[in-house]
Amino acid sequence: MEEFHKVRRLPPYVFEEVNRKKAAARARGVDIIDLGMGNPDLPTPSFVVDKMCEVIRDPRTHRYSASKGIAGLRKAQAGYYARRFGVKLNPDTEIVATLGSKEGFANMAQAITAPGDVVLCPNPTYPIHAFGFLMTGGTIRSIPARPDEEFLRAVDRAVRHSIPKPIAIILNYPSNPTAYEADLDFYREIVAFAKKHEIILLSDLAYAEIYFDGSPPPSVLQVEGAMDVAVEFTSMSKTFSMPGWRVGFAVGNQRLIAALARVKSYLDYGAFTPIQVAAAAAINAGDDIVRDARDIYRHRRDVLVESFGRSGWDVPPPSSTMFAWVPIPERYRDMGSLEFSKLLIEKADVAVAPGIGFGEHGDDFVRIALVENEHRIRQAARNIRRFLASEENAGQKVSAAGA
Ligand SMILES: Cc1ncc(COP(=O)(O)O)c(C=O)c1O
Repeated sequence: MEEFHKVRRLPPYVFEEVNRKKAAARARGVDIIDLGMGNPDLPTPSFVVDKMCEVIRDPRTHRYSASKGIAGLRKAQAGYYARRFGVKLNPDTEIVATLGSKEGFANMAQAITAPGDVVLCPNPTYPIHAFGFLMTGGTIRSIPARPDEEFLRAVDRAVRHSIPKPIAIILNYPSNPTAYEADLDFYREIVAFAKKHEIILLSDLAYAEIYFDGSPPPSVLQVEGAMDVAVEFTSMSKTFSMPGWRVGFAVGNQRLIAALARVKSYLDYGAFTPIQVAAAAAINAGDDIVRDARDIYRHRRDVLVESFGRSGWDVPPPSSTMFAWVPIPERYRDMGSLEFSKLLIEKADVAVAPGIGFGEHGDDFVRIALVENEHRIRQAARNIRRFLASEENAGQKVSAAGA
């Protein structure tokens, strides 16, 4: 029987293949060190959990909540944007709370896309950036992931040559998976371009608070006039170690926010009210609680770079996000990222995310997530060292035998 139209646009997640291999190894009793999925392992701050427990006892909170988020949560998010970016937002018309930023992004795509609309999407990128649009009948044109002159040339070329003209450009800095960062000068250029060509900007700022060196990542909405064309998505998942709670936000241009709110009003009643109250408490608590998580990720980053480097596999240090984007060692590059990732599970008991899962231009890389503690990261490095050494010996034996 022929596959459903929509399902045909959603090939099986590449990561599933690695996950199956991982599950099979674990079933055999192997201790796999899992640096694959970006699933934060740190506990949610305890006062947030306490707030949730307190509020859940009030039966009034058990009813349907508000689809676009309770007023207190939207107000808290307005406070964050004012404090952190100096951006003033109207909580009623410029902010929607979402069921995680992934849901917000996908439903924004659904709200604004007509069949055949072209969207400019970085490659490699976090899968929902492309599949959110593919699911709704849109078409993707790939652009480079690195926010530089080549990126600007590529969007210019795309606007001149795509038919129909692109409706939107996706931005994601700091980026998953590459950890590339954008500065305000870049945002100024892209906002001016978007305004000139009447193109929407969708900025995914999920890693706004996970940064280690240099200055904090900016928001595209800091650029004057950005509110005319841009919406930005943020997430509680990484910032407050709340991935399972499913709270995120879309903020910015009123027309776009109204379109998202309209779609959501047909689909959901918002997150459970106690979750929203606890999320508001987390945001209002200020920046100290974020600092602890940031310090842990920074330390893990340092351990990863140092221990893997000593094992013979150089890891370029990311200065933000919870990921390292690592070139596959030269001698394995031809096999591609999926086969290499499977080999690492088999021979080194280490799971990573194959770069191909983020797009064809990611195939020379794997993504390593900082979601295991430093001891486990060091153990992974020792396993890798053993794996690389044994492969080298095997290679020498082969060439000696062939000589
Ligand atoms: C760039 C990016 N955007 C969005 C998300 C999804 O976040 P949320 O848990 O808020 O849906 C992730 C999660 O890994 C991400 O890396």
